[in-house]
Amino acid sequence: MSDHEGAAAGGPPPGLPISDPAERRRHWDRRHATHEPIESGEPDPILARYAGDLAPGRALDLACGDGRNAVWLARHGWRVTGVDFSSVALDRARQRAAAAGVEVDWQPHDLLQWVPPEGAYELVALVYLHLPPPERRIVLARAARAVAPAGRLLVVGHHRRNLEEGHGGPRDERVLYTAEELAAEVPGLVVERTEAVVQEDATGRRRVDAVLAARRPMA
Ligand SMILES: C[S@@+](CC[C@H](N)C(=O)[O-])C[C@H]1O[C@@H](n2cnc3c(N)ncnc32)[C@H](O)[C@@H]1O
Repeated sequence: MSDHEGAAAGGPPPGLPISDPAERRRHWDRRHATHEPIESGEPDPILARYAGDLAPGRALDLACGDGRNAVWLARHGWRVTGVDFSSVALDRARQRAAAAGVEVDWQPHDLLQWVPPEGAYELVALVYLHLPPPERRIVLARAARAVAPAGRLLVVGHHRRNLEEGHGGPRDERVLYTAEELAAEVPGLVVERTEAVVQEDATGRRRVDAVLAARRPMA
C-alpha cells in the first residue's frame, strides 16, 4: 500500500487480531487487491529522512507491502530485500520496481515463520506492522538479529496515542505501541532514538507514529 491511508488502515481489523495465519494472509491479500493501484510511490517520510542520512548498503524491508519503501531505498543505492506474506502486495511491488527501473529481491515469507539471516543488513526497516505483542516481540527480535555490525534498525508504526489523537491505523489498542516498548524488544542493539512523531498529511489529518532507531555496535 502506497499512501498513508492505506498503510494507516493496516493491521488486524477492530476486535480480536486474526489468529489463523492463513486467514491473516488472505485478509492482507484482499486489502492489497481492493486498494487503489500504486500511485505516487512516496516512501514513508520518516524512513526516507532516516535512510537518507546513511551510506547505502544492504537493506531488509520487513512487511514491505507494495514496495514503496523498498523501491525508494533501491533508487537511493541500497541493495534491498523486501519481504511480505501477501502475494498480491509483492506482485504490485514488482510492478513498482519495474516502473522505477530498479532491482529488489522480493521474498514471500510469513514473518512469524521466517528467520532472516543474522548480521546481514546495514539497514533493517519495519514500517507499519501491527501484531499482538507476543508476535511482535518475535519479529522484532529477529529483525534486530538481522542487523549487521554498525548497521541500523528502524521501526515506524502507529503510536498508541494515535487511537485518541490521530487518524487511521488499527483501532485495537493491543496492536499499537510506544517507541519505549519497542526499545525493550531489540536485544543486542543500542537504542538511538525513541520518539512519538506527530505529522499532518496534505488534508490536515494528524497521525502519531512511534519511531525507534537502534544500531548494532561495531564488531
Ligand atoms: C500496513 S501494510 C505496510 C506496508 C509497508 N511497510 C508500507 O509502509 O507501505 C502492512 C503489511 O504487513 C504485511 N504483513 C502483515 N503480517 C505479516 C506477516 N506475518 N508476515 C509478512 N508480512 C505481513 C501485510 O501483508 C502488509 O503488506
